[in-house]
Amino acid sequence: MSAYDLSAIDRAAAIIRGGCGSADIALIAGSGLGGFASTLTNRSTLPYGDIPGFTVSTAPGHAGKWVSGECSGKRVYVMSGRIHCYEGHDAQTIAFPIRVMARLNVHTLIVTNAAGGVNTSYKPGDFMVLSDFINFTGYNPLCGANLDDFGPRFPDMSQALDGSLIQTSLDAASSLGVTAHTGVYAMMSGPSYETPAEIRMLRILGADAVGMSTVPEVIAARHSGIRVLGISCITNMAAGILPQPLSHEEVMETGDRVKESFSQWVCKILAAL
Ligand code: HPA
Repeated sequence: MSAYDLSAIDRAAAIIRGGCGSADIALIAGSGLGGFASTLTNRSTLPYGDIPGFTVSTAPGHAGKWVSGECSGKRVYVMSGRIHCYEGHDAQTIAFPIRVMARLNVHTLIVTNAAGGVNTSYKPGDFMVLSDFINFTGYNPLCGANLDDFGPRFPDMSQALDGSLIQTSLDAASSLGVTAHTGVYAMMSGPSYETPAEIRMLRILGADAVGMSTVPEVIAARHSGIRVLGISCITNMAAGILPQPLSHEEVMETGDRVKESFSQWVCKILAAL
């Protein structure tokens, strides 16, 4: 499915509007954080397999359903599960749901992920609000013909993450006693975790956290004029920092441990929007 096929994007948007109603805020749930969807009231759900043009995730911890509902009196769409470049998808395919959001008139996107802490002052279970990102993958979802209905050929990324959303999220975190840093997220392609040498390199280059997602979605959202808040759950310290191997189990366990404070925090952020 091409991310540039406007009629396919509109078909998917129509199915979502029919099955899940409307919302102008969306959240993409990262690994282990999909439980947020079940905290919504007045929920409707569509499995990705029922939405034309959607690709079903194969990654463990990614349910693969579009959920709508209410939180803090706000209507919100939640993508519970996402697809990744390491599953063999190109960045354009990953951007397809973002383009659908744009056609559904979503104006605010909260993108979340599980990430390794590169900044050694971070601890597993902390959160990081993205101030910026480094795209270390070589992929960009906007490669190919530009869809002028969505945005310009050369979109600005000098403030890819929205400054006022960052402040709102930090205020909400401090009122709840949630530990939230601000920092730079580096996206690597995965699926192998990074080597210790790569993590030392990323730290020198200014990264505070590393993961395998998020950047294509942020770029596609900014192209469409959607404002973006990015939140990483630091599920583990990145490779080489601690004398232990990395594992997906640790990522899922930490996500599970923080899921309640994550949900409360997101509800507080939504209340302030
Ligand atoms: N590296 C890359 N992706 C990740 C990590 C990591 O350490 N933890 C969770 N996702």
